[in-house]
Amino acid sequence: MISLRRLTKQYGSFTAVDAIDLEVPRGELFGFLGPNGAGKTTTLRMIAGILRPTSGAISIAGVDLAADPIGAKMRLGFIPDRPFIYEKLTGAEFLRFVAGLYDQDGPDVEHRGRELLALFDLEEWKDELVESYSHGMRQKLIISSAFVHRPEVIVVDEPMVGLDPKAAKILKDLFREYTRRGHTIMMSTHTLEVAETLCDRVAIIAKGTIRACGTMDELRRSADAGTQGLEQIFLRLTGENAARELVEVLDA
Ligand SMILES: Nc1ncnc2c1ncn2[C@@H]1O[C@H](COP(=O)(O)OP(=O)(O)OP(=O)(O)O)[C@@H](O)[C@H]1O
Ligand SMILES: [Mg+2]
Repeated sequence: MISLRRLTKQYGSFTAVDAIDLEVPRGELFGFLGPNGAGKTTTLRMIAGILRPTSGAISIAGVDLAADPIGAKMRLGFIPDRPFIYEKLTGAEFLRFVAGLYDQDGPDVEHRGRELLALFDLEEWKDELVESYSHGMRQKLIISSAFVHRPEVIVVDEPMVGLDPKAAKILKDLFREYTRRGHTIMMSTHTLEVAETLCDRVAIIAKGTIRACGTMDELRRSADAGTQGLEQIFLRLTGENAARELVEVLDA
């Protein structure tokens, strides 16, 4: 459903994403992990078609993004890490507006919008302007807007940030149920527990290259990590040794 071939992004002479190959099949909930600055947001923004790759190819549901950008984007919902919402729209109007961008309107859209807002406890706020929403409420609205047009593929950058435990649980259930119905989701996250318990497969990216990709069992085997959790595998594969560095800083 999502296919990346030698995907590369350079900012000047700096290579943020370095010839990534990746296949995410239909119905998969795929986790994208990596340290700060690894290239996750850059990759997801290229898949969403808002950042142009330096080289390489992306296809969404078999549609080449460069050859048919509208066709590919029509099949995709994107939840960015720093979303933009029109402050002077109400929650309900914002969902209608996003559905309209995907050529959808009418009773089905209204129904789905209401259901999504109810799911996230935003029902009472649906006719209030977004400018009066809290951070978490905005996040829940943005998430709803990616589902309202029921895309085949959803790409989401750190969806859990700012959500309370109840909303985080609802989001996890929604992601699971959506992929169970044959849709595909690729999400970045720093919450290893979420990746470990929620995702079918994960990729670990560091300095623009994929260091490992597979199910939790496959990662444990490839990292020769025995029964270790994702945290140990992550730290080993990304070469992070925070504890030692911390001691060095404190001793200096
Ligand atoms: N517009 C830009 N111009 C120059 N360099 C950029 C730009 N955007 C990102 N970078 C660099 O590209 C690298 C990857 O950034 P990116 O935002 O993709 O990381 P990330 O994996 O999403 O990190 P985080 O976990 O902190 O969100 C970083 O070194 C960053 O400084
Ligand atoms: Mg990022």
